[in-house]
Amino acid sequence: MFSKEDKAFASEFLDRVVKKVTAMAPEIGVNFPTTNSNLGEWDPKGTKANISGWTTGFWPGMMWLMYLKTGDEMFKKYAEGCEEKLDEAFDIFIGINHDVGFMWSLSAIADYKITGNEKSKVRAMHAATILAGRFNHIAKYIRAWENSSLRFAIIDCMMNLPLLSFATSIQDDPRFEQVAEAHADTVAKHFIRGDGSSNHVVEFDPITGDVLATPRGQGYDSGSSWSRGQAWALYGFALAYLNLGKQEYLDTAKKVAHYFIANIEDGKLPLVDFRAPAEPVYYDSSAASIAACGLIEIAKAVPEYEAKIYERAAMKLLRVLDENCNYNQDELRLLENGSSAYHKPTGMHMPWIFGDYYLLEALMKIDGNDGRFTVHK
Ligand code: GLY
Repeated sequence: MFSKEDKAFASEFLDRVVKKVTAMAPEIGVNFPTTNSNLGEWDPKGTKANISGWTTGFWPGMMWLMYLKTGDEMFKKYAEGCEEKLDEAFDIFIGINHDVGFMWSLSAIADYKITGNEKSKVRAMHAATILAGRFNHIAKYIRAWENSSLRFAIIDCMMNLPLLSFATSIQDDPRFEQVAEAHADTVAKHFIRGDGSSNHVVEFDPITGDVLATPRGQGYDSGSSWSRGQAWALYGFALAYLNLGKQEYLDTAKKVAHYFIANIEDGKLPLVDFRAPAEPVYYDSSAASIAACGLIEIAKAVPEYEAKIYERAAMKLLRVLDENCNYNQDELRLLENGSSAYHKPTGMHMPWIFGDYYLLEALMKIDGNDGRFTVHK
């Protein structure tokens, strides 16, 4: 249980965020913002995040969270508009990949859970079928990305597994969750290192399942530790525990959390990579908001005498995130200092929509209702 003081801080923080997103929403409307250039303009037409891109679920997801918090129909209208527009990605098909979980959990499943919209349920089932279809039965992993990357699995995909649990719950059919469990077991074995850090990418031989390489992905180097990847592992394994019920997944989430906690400095955002050279210094606010969500879920899942470790860490991150929010009502950017990848200077220290989404979700968890768009038990 968060202290009264922590709850009061989170509640005031949430009020600031709600006010800011309320100001941003009519400007963005039914679109798919990804980032905001240094010129201060969103990319509302989705040219950067094309309709099939992995970030298209986050704005509708934020709109559903805002609808839950405020009851304001404006947010519902934007969320529904985005969800309908996203159908184009199913039609194009080429370009959608393992990230269908991000895209349709926060849009269609959110809609189905909040309004009971049957069409949303069907959309989520389509997405789940696509995700399950990417599973390699011999090597036991869900393949990441498109044709050029036939052999890769990535840590981010832990966040897509809840979609499979949704499908199993709807069809009362274990096969979707069997895929989720097999993939999570592979990730626990081949991605999570002894010290609780994680590879971003693992290249498998798709015929034998042998591990061929661990490319650097979005981190500094092979063997280093990209902080958003650690956050995906932390929250992803917490969600795997909540959906699939295996104690090993909670233990893995805790192990990754302990590593994450040991690598954050008081009053600072997480570094883009926890194992990069001391200079230059790059931060990633999105890693903090994703990790905060996972830490709050771990805190709820463990006995009370343990929960404090995770609650304290979540609050530490949230206090830094507050300092990194842009509350200027005239600027279309909320959380500053997100970074796309260590070796991508053009994506460094900018607002990214996924940072905003998980910040809002973390605050709403503490507020008491985050919609449970990715928890299906
Ligand atoms: N899933 C891609 C990223 O975290 O940047």
